[in-house]
Amino acid sequence: MIDIRSDTVTGPTEGMRKAMAGAAVGDDGYGEDPTVNTLEALGAEITGKEAALFVPSGTFGNQLALFTWCKRGSEVVLGEECHIMRHEAGATAVIAGAQTRPIGAPGGVLPVSALAERLRRRDLHGPGTSLICLENAHSLGRAVPLAALEPVRRIAREWDIPLHLDGARIFNAAAALHVEAAQIAAHADSVMFCLSKGLCAPAGSLLAGPKDFIQEARMRRKLLGGGMRQAGILAAAGIIALKDFPNRLVEDHRRARYIAGHLAAIPGVVITPEEQNINMVFFSYPPAQDQAAAQKIQEVFAQNSIRINAPQDGRYRFVTHYWIGDREAGLVVKAAQEAFAP
Ligand SMILES: Cc1ncc(COP(=O)(O)O)c(C=O)c1O
Repeated sequence: MIDIRSDTVTGPTEGMRKAMAGAAVGDDGYGEDPTVNTLEALGAEITGKEAALFVPSGTFGNQLALFTWCKRGSEVVLGEECHIMRHEAGATAVIAGAQTRPIGAPGGVLPVSALAERLRRRDLHGPGTSLICLENAHSLGRAVPLAALEPVRRIAREWDIPLHLDGARIFNAAAALHVEAAQIAAHADSVMFCLSKGLCAPAGSLLAGPKDFIQEARMRRKLLGGGMRQAGILAAAGIIALKDFPNRLVEDHRRARYIAGHLAAIPGVVITPEEQNINMVFFSYPPAQDQAAAQKIQEVFAQNSIRINAPQDGRYRFVTHYWIGDREAGLVVKAAQEAFAP
């Protein structure tokens, strides 16, 4: 099967499997897993932060950051379409005990004037802002330019409010923007990034930031049951992910653009190819608003051995990754021409 539902479907490579089988391990509860320690050091270095912590998932890393930065009853300002807001099961209210204050962020860019209006100090009636969250690459497929992050960082500094970056796909953003991941991460105090998506590791994310923040996050990871023992088995794949995979993401982006270009030529498909910055192709196809039609489209792809998701909020999302080569991208285009035929 060709699976373009997400880059989270990527299984580990042969090299990762070998490294996992032979990984040196120890009890990470004692700080004695050498492979985890190597991965964490690498994660800190690559993002230009003082320290990093291995966590089970991206959601865990984001929510651990919020739990560590935010006092209960405080407020987090973030984009209304971002992953923390929309896809983390309302965890901010449950774990950090903070309330979210979303703002419209077209293209993943937090508009500074709206942001400035939302920030507030704690008083008798209102919770104070304890954190601002950014996301890059944005999960709607946009790489947010550094120039759009800079004013957010400036205002956060003026207010002395920390900034957390959901960088689940920070390496995709870096590849799309032609910058280093550390240049993006420099705009935030803490950053979470995933090893398990475009980077192909089977599981795990890293949370990076200042040393004392990571020390506190380590305690809170334990509190949440996220302290692992011989996690070097997983970290071994993560080290390969970090060393070898960021540089190949441009290939996924190229194939996504190829698919987007061909979709744009199909009558009825609504797509803005220049907005497809990373490995994700978002588009709509109005006839698929009818559920039976959407089902039929999915079946045509399935008959071509291609797995796609049903449209969400009226939008399809096709995602390229390590296991989608030129041949597979060509087959996706062919199936799309058949499935979206008027
Ligand atoms: C932008 C973003 N942040 C966080 C996550 C959460 O990662 P995980 O699925 O590992 O919890 C995702 C998952 O796709 C994501 O797209």
